[in-house]
Amino acid sequence: MNILILGGGGREHALAWAVLQNPKCDRLIVAPGNAGIAMIAECAALDTEDGEAVVGFAVEESIDFVIIGPEAPLAAGVADALAEAGILVFGPSAAAARLEASKGFTKEVCDACGAPTAAWARFTDAAAAKDYVAAQGAPIVVKADGLAAGKGVVVAETVAEAQAAIDEMFGGAFGAAGAEVVIEEFMTGEEASFFILSDGESVLPIGTAQDHKRIGEGDTGPNTGGMGAYSPAPVLSDDVAARALAEIVEPTVAEMARRGTPYRGVLYAGLMIEGGVSRLVEYNVRFGDPECQVLMMRLGGQALDLMLACAEGRLKEMSVTWAADHAMTVVMAAKGYPGSYGKGDVIGGLEALPEDSHHMVFHAGTASREGAVVANGGRVLNVTARGATLQEARERAYGMVEGVDWPGGVYRRDIGWRAL
Ligand code: AMP
Ligand code: GLY
Repeated sequence: MNILILGGGGREHALAWAVLQNPKCDRLIVAPGNAGIAMIAECAALDTEDGEAVVGFAVEESIDFVIIGPEAPLAAGVADALAEAGILVFGPSAAAARLEASKGFTKEVCDACGAPTAAWARFTDAAAAKDYVAAQGAPIVVKADGLAAGKGVVVAETVAEAQAAIDEMFGGAFGAAGAEVVIEEFMTGEEASFFILSDGESVLPIGTAQDHKRIGEGDTGPNTGGMGAYSPAPVLSDDVAARALAEIVEPTVAEMARRGTPYRGVLYAGLMIEGGVSRLVEYNVRFGDPECQVLMMRLGGQALDLMLACAEGRLKEMSVTWAADHAMTVVMAAKGYPGSYGKGDVIGGLEALPEDSHHMVFHAGTASREGAVVANGGRVLNVTARGATLQEARERAYGMVEGVDWPGGVYRRDIGWRAL
């Protein structure tokens, strides 16, 4: 079959790499792709948030199946446009994508189905929000309701900090995303990510992971999109995962169906776990980036069969074949990230690195210039490896990092510290 993947980061490189291992894939196009993806698939320029343009392209290229990587096209209704045109798509409708696009919506759904999450309230004006914070005390969490590229959350240590965040959000720092603000109880515990496929009725867990959001070693410094990840997450043991599935995920999927907006795609549940009990921090309606890289390294070619069954409503027939393995990815970023950083550094040494079922350098923000790979983003490379143990995966990943010739690149040396 002919397959189109939308997106151009490390997540989409990993999806492309896994899909290509499955003999069902005859032709793969990734839009827009990047320099690493271009080494394994065709890349095409396309406005991936324009449903009409995506449908037109898919028809022209005789695409049988579209996999949507990032949240923006989902929130913009690209899955709806493809479904209306009769093209098979992996990714939720815009109505179901509200589980990521509106934090207040997710909280409402949790309350309606009894899924455990932090106590919360939503506000459309600063004065009422500040009164609430003053009454609740700190620490407390202030969130812009809408999509803010991962930047719309402030975990405030003091009431003053929370009130400043409220002013900033209502002041337009996140545009329309901050027109409504959700204020939440601060939860303690260990965070982990749980990935579940849903075809609207059935659910199938496809893996767990933990990422490292802070730029600095020891989980210090500013937040980033993620500086590394590993799978599985030890804190999400089989028992803890089964309970989270029964208490959080299944009720959510049932509630979305009851509302007439069934959830179809991958549901990424960010959980806070304490004493073996999970509470929901947030949902994302896509794979995590870089969590997808470790999941794809472990799933390999079966990922395509799973995504197809999900899109076709056949998840009930499916199961995941697990090896008792571990994967880790180390993000190499441009110096300065998540603040301002330069672009255009030539990155050497990549050709000499192994590329097999246990080793892969996924490209996140790269471009090619005169035959060379150059840095073209904040997060640039996802150096990913698999092993029988997390320690082995770690040694392989950092061994590859050593081989990357990029003086302008920075990375954390402690990915996986919590689990090791
Ligand atoms: P979110 O974008 O909602 O995942 O929030 C980003 C990060 O803020 C999460 O990964 C948590 O580390 C933290 N966070 C969000 N909500 C809470 C909460 N209610 N209690 C504690 N930490 C939180
Ligand atoms: N790595 C976090 C995310 O994809 O949202």
